[in-house]
Amino acid sequence: MSEILLQIDGREVKAREEMTVWEAAQSAGLSIPTLCHHEKLEPYGACRICTVEVDIRGKTSLIASCVYPVAQDMVVKTRSEKVDKTRKMILEEMLAHAPDSEELRKLAQEYGADKDRFEKESSFCILCGLCVRYCAEVKKKDALGFVERGPRREISFVPEIAARECWNCKECFPLCPTSALQAAYVLTEALAFPEASAKTEEGK
Ligand code: SF4
Ligand code: FES
Repeated sequence: MSEILLQIDGREVKAREEMTVWEAAQSAGLSIPTLCHHEKLEPYGACRICTVEVDIRGKTSLIASCVYPVAQDMVVKTRSEKVDKTRKMILEEMLAHAPDSEELRKLAQEYGADKDRFEKESSFCILCGLCVRYCAEVKKKDALGFVERGPRREISFVPEIAARECWNCKECFPLCPTSALQAAYVLTEALAFPEASAKTEEGK
């Protein structure tokens, strides 16, 4: 396990070679926003809000810090004009899905993102995958997954599994940065296994 020396926001940072840029920044007390990252889950790299600017041997690029590995002598900027512009654009696209998400609104304020820049989308889901991956990787239940492709891609519960597993679990609910997950669950519950609603009500 060899040690890597890199620079983040002008600071010398020591990291282990298996670390990502995001982890190295965290270990140095520098915070980079995330939306699809979770410590219990495999790195995913979907939302790109953790984008930072890196310079490796004179070559500058924008990378997703939660999946990108550290490298010797890498120079990282967690904020720059390019980084902020990228995060602003990403947030504006997400706000078209979930304009009332508190997490997105907080970030929008920081990056000056306009929630009305893009036409509103019908789905609240920003496809961070936290719910799907948590259910698969941590709970090992696969009660929900992604369906469709491209702009029609969305999450969907598997009614037979959800009816059995979800009503007394719901550990994925607080992970969702928007209200998409709860909405999808309520709909599935009402259509496919309404008897579980009764159990949920009883358990309240
Ligand atoms: S429902 Fe929520 S947690 Fe699941 S993928 Fe969509 S935004 Fe992420
Ligand atoms: S937090 Fe890095 S891509 Fe989502």
